[in-house]
Amino acid sequence: MKERSLMFSPSMLGGDFSRAGEELEAIASAGADYAHFDVMDGSFVPEITFGSKFIKDLRPYSELVFDVHLMIERPEEHVRRFAEAGAGIITVHAESTRHLWRTLTLIKECGAECSVAINPGTPVSFIEPVLPIADYVLVMTVNPGWGGQRFIPECAAKIEELDSRRRDDGHSYLIEADGGIGRSNIKLLYDSGLDVAVMGSSFFAEDDKAAYLSELEELVQ
Ligand code: DX5
Ligand code: ZN
Repeated sequence: MKERSLMFSPSMLGGDFSRAGEELEAIASAGADYAHFDVMDGSFVPEITFGSKFIKDLRPYSELVFDVHLMIERPEEHVRRFAEAGAGIITVHAESTRHLWRTLTLIKECGAECSVAINPGTPVSFIEPVLPIADYVLVMTVNPGWGGQRFIPECAAKIEELDSRRRDDGHSYLIEADGGIGRSNIKLLYDSGLDVAVMGSSFFAEDDKAAYLSELEELVQ
């Protein structure tokens, strides 16, 4: 018997940007809980994707919560613009700012939920001081910057650690994982304490996306 629900945040990065509206619709009609947007600046990560205008232009076409993952330097200078564009959740990397507490607080002041991400090489202890104020913690299960990479299984231990810390310390954050997620690892992640699975390439590779999400739900039971 399933104890809690697993939620899905398919990533637009796995889709075709020239048909962004249709890809967003495919995410909604598959029954996903969020739509994930990967913002890259060519500095924090090598690639460049899109800015707040992309999100603002798509916002009227979906009722899904937009889960915006900022892989950018100095995110504190940009979060207001993404909140105004319609982001419901804004994720910043702990490694990308000297002002993590201030940035998470600013996100909340802008009316969005705040999320802190950690790279595969960053321990949970690095974000321990902000766990009481985080709405989400995003555990990168690949090195950020590209879709379609191989899942790093060692990262699952950080999900377990975050799950046990929230129980011990009474925190309320949800745990999200991002990178290389699909049939082969969803059970491991769920059993480790995962709440939200981000998926780019595995989601968009499926013709029947709703059936794929149902299959993943079955796999974790
Ligand atoms: C990677 C991004 C991911 C990416 C995941 O840096 O943060 O959200 O879209 O894609 P897959 O599922 O293909 O690893
Ligand atoms: Zn992402």
